[in-house]
Amino acid sequence: MRRPHAPLLLLACVVAFPAWGWGSDGHLIIAEIAENRLTPAAQAGVADLIGDQSLGDISTWADQIRRQRPETRPWHYLNPPLGVDQVLLEHSPPEGSVLSCVVEQTAILRDAEATHAERSEALYWLAHMVGDIHCPMHVSKAEDRGGNDIDVIVAGTETNLHRAWDGTIWRVRGETWQETADRLESSIDEFEIDATMNPEDWATETYRYAIDYGYNVTPGTELGEDYIEQALPIIDRQFVAGGVRLAALLNEAFAETNE
Ligand code: ADE
Ligand code: ZN
Ligand code: ZN
Repeated sequence: MRRPHAPLLLLACVVAFPAWGWGSDGHLIIAEIAENRLTPAAQAGVADLIGDQSLGDISTWADQIRRQRPETRPWHYLNPPLGVDQVLLEHSPPEGSVLSCVVEQTAILRDAEATHAERSEALYWLAHMVGDIHCPMHVSKAEDRGGNDIDVIVAGTETNLHRAWDGTIWRVRGETWQETADRLESSIDEFEIDATMNPEDWATETYRYAIDYGYNVTPGTELGEDYIEQALPIIDRQFVAGGVRLAALLNEAFAETNE
């Protein structure tokens, strides 16, 4: 197959993807890593809820429905109080956050009393939000709306800090989502992801990447090579963590339902 024209592809991606989570390719990478680790019980449980669709197929629904369901917009991110050491559920505003969404939808998925439709929708939320909670600018600062108000340039493309982390930075690699998933899968043990941590800890790790690293920029300027070189391994690590933890969450949820 002919390789796609890289700069054109890059331009198409930059124009097309929204500032709401990892670009859709990021969600596909995380879903693929998760799917590779599901137990037979979880595979059966997932199939019962979404038929023959894959986790990747349902992973971008949460972005697609935000117009019809505007009340769900805050569910994609969380801006905890500045300077906290640990991100907590109580940092979620009343309208909800990516953290409360993960916690609440996990409870629905595990609730034997919930309807099939409710548990199916819970899986749609989780297939997306376990990704978003690992996306650095999605657990960051309210004052600049998670980097949306900080203009930066990435490899000649004018963007903002939020979009840079959602996709502009890692698209510089020029890989397809499948190539990224395969590359990460081939060295997955080296990432040493702790899959036993809870969603508050996931959010805390993400927040630390954003605050300790992500904001080391001069607004209005091009992100330097050093910045990009250090961001890429963080992003790889977050893709792997998202995938491994989504699998662990589903394996646990379906183990329980089948008891
Ligand atoms: N709006 C306000 N804060 C945000 C964040 N961290 N991510 C996405 N959108 C936001
Ligand atoms: Zn999102
Ligand atoms: Zn985003």
